[in-house]
Amino acid sequence: MDLPFTEPFKIKMVENIYKSTKDQRDKWIREASFNLFNLRSEQVFIDLITDSGTGAMSDKQWSAMMLGDESYAGASSYYKLKEAIKEITGFNYFLPTHQGRAAENVLFSAIVKEGDIVPGNSHFDTTKGHIEFRKARAVDCTVGIASDTTAWDPFKGNVDLEKLEDVLKKYPAEKISCILITITNNSAGGQPVSMENLRGARKLADKYGTRLFLDSARFAENAWFIKKREPGYSDKGILEIAGEMFSYSDGMTMSSKKDAIVNMGGFIGFRDEELFHKATTYNIMFEGFITYGGMSGRDMNALAQGLYEGIDLSYLESRIGQVAYLGRKMKEYGIPVLEPFGGHAIFIDAKKFLPEIPKEEFPGQTLAVEIYIEGGVRSVEIGALMADRDPVTRENRYPELEMIRLALPRRVFTNNHMDYVAAVVRNVFERRDNIKKGFRILREAPILRHFTVGLERV
Ligand SMILES: Cc1ncc(COP(=O)(O)O)c(C=O)c1O
Repeated sequence: MDLPFTEPFKIKMVENIYKSTKDQRDKWIREASFNLFNLRSEQVFIDLITDSGTGAMSDKQWSAMMLGDESYAGASSYYKLKEAIKEITGFNYFLPTHQGRAAENVLFSAIVKEGDIVPGNSHFDTTKGHIEFRKARAVDCTVGIASDTTAWDPFKGNVDLEKLEDVLKKYPAEKISCILITITNNSAGGQPVSMENLRGARKLADKYGTRLFLDSARFAENAWFIKKREPGYSDKGILEIAGEMFSYSDGMTMSSKKDAIVNMGGFIGFRDEELFHKATTYNIMFEGFITYGGMSGRDMNALAQGLYEGIDLSYLESRIGQVAYLGRKMKEYGIPVLEPFGGHAIFIDAKKFLPEIPKEEFPGQTLAVEIYIEGGVRSVEIGALMADRDPVTRENRYPELEMIRLALPRRVFTNNHMDYVAAVVRNVFERRDNIKKGFRILREAPILRHFTVGLERV
């Protein structure tokens, strides 16, 4: 018999989580204005709202923290992190930031101006927020197949290179801040981008005289998919694949809270020294001095270690394997999940799950609330609430995909927890015909509204 694949670690410390009753949860979610971000963590049993900053650090990362150098300038922790970034990404220049959106803020301060265009695959919400805040526009050129939740394609996160070229042709080079490709493509379901696609985007960047940046929060998971799915890569290591991915870009933004398995942190990598110097000024203004940015020395040490743990093949097998385990269970129960399963999360097609709820009543949020009430599982809506209003018309934007995301923290839950989550969703699925009404908005922020929106039942 083939031996089953198991986690390449054992558990050294545990944290209790608390079950509650349906009545308690019903009361709590009302008090939270039906916004799952407003719940206290003790009111949640299995928290799958995000895989960001929620991972479990290793004994090596915790011990690296004790060796953190907290010098304001020139800390050894900075140099340790610089070496790890250089080895894994190839970038000679980097700036530490406190998280991914801070990296976006600093980089975009240096390269995005009013009226600019930033084409790419689906931009993450904070990324789009930072672009639109500067009165520039993010143009989504993701491949069309990404919006078909059941079509099987190995690289559904790809950029449609023809669409991208149309955009590059349409605008003068000085209006294109950069091409920005998110690996993996979170908003399209944690779907990977192929090496061939990155190579193609590089060619277009060269042809039209613009830069290519990678939003690299889940670069290691993307490299794993390339190894598994793209011809010619099965014998290559994750380090080598990651190195090739980054070689096609001019730089990267990183939310280290994902694939580098730390609770806080981020950075920007640059190939070009001049751009690095330009961005440095903004980093000092918004984040901190060059050699710590928004991070303490101990956090930089944990990050340097985490970057290596995040590209470990057996870790990636078990991490992406657990996501697929949850996906298979849900599929077995007939739940409409997005396929192929993503790297960090399972996405449920809310339009198919709750076809009677009109898009104006936010079927994704309705489903997320029902799943919480059923079993204390917290997910997040990836749909019309998250999409915000059109910055010009102020009309609601209704994206083609209305989904909820159950994101798995790294090294945190067991497959027993996954069985529980699948059973909770199954129970809601079995009573879906009784869910007839969604939500209307009571109050909302002008941008990134889903974090703070207040809702009431229709
Ligand atoms: C693809 C992507 N880019 C950027 C970010 C922003 O990173 P952070 O939450 O660290 O600010 C996220 C966070 O979830 C993300 O998924």
